[in-house]
Amino acid sequence: MDTLVYIMNFIRDKNVASITPTSSVGVKKVCSKIDFSRTDLIVEYGPGTGVFSKYLLGHMGEESRLILIERNRHFNSFLKRKINDPRVVLVQDSCENVLETLRKCKESEADYIISGIPFSFFDHDLKHRILYNTHRALKKGGKFLVYQTCFQTNNHLKNHLEKYFPVVTSKYEIANIPPMRTYVAIK
Ligand SMILES: C[S@@+](CC[C@H](N)C(=O)[O-])C[C@H]1O[C@@H](n2cnc3c(N)ncnc32)[C@H](O)[C@@H]1O
Repeated sequence: MDTLVYIMNFIRDKNVASITPTSSVGVKKVCSKIDFSRTDLIVEYGPGTGVFSKYLLGHMGEESRLILIERNRHFNSFLKRKINDPRVVLVQDSCENVLETLRKCKESEADYIISGIPFSFFDHDLKHRILYNTHRALKKGGKFLVYQTCFQTNNHLKNHLEKYFPVVTSKYEIANIPPMRTYVAIK
């Protein structure tokens, strides 16, 4: 059911960018970088049908918060019906406005920001606005965790991330279907 909703949105919105949701192998790989015992706030860009959100909520503490920023209104309605958890705030917006979202949620800085949005589809200015605001939205030492499917995985993002973050590593993950590239950028 979730996958069907996902594919329908892939067909009608080019910014969905990947034909299926991230596999559980991919979700675990990306989330293995998170220390859940020391996490108050996670922001997720582009949750889609919520495969990461579900995993995060299963591991986050009772007092922590998860802010989901999804641009696609169909995914937003789907997530509103699917997720009923007091720790979650769901926002229909573009993630370039993350600072405004944090302000509205009375939060200042996140421990982690997780993103599967299709950076390679964005023009130079939007890409840099998102990276600039993401850097500002993180705590010192906070991590920006990015995953991109194989259609967008030529490591193009590393140079852009390095303009904002002092430490950036990337890895090609073949076990996910389709394969993906993951990045960890530390503020
Ligand atoms: C490749 S899909 C990933 C979906 C989901 N996180 C997963 O792993 O299965 C990209 C998601 O990013 C969303 N998206 C694209 N551009 C966005 C933006 N500027 N701000 C917020 N969400 C965006 C899309 O609507 C879609 O849900």
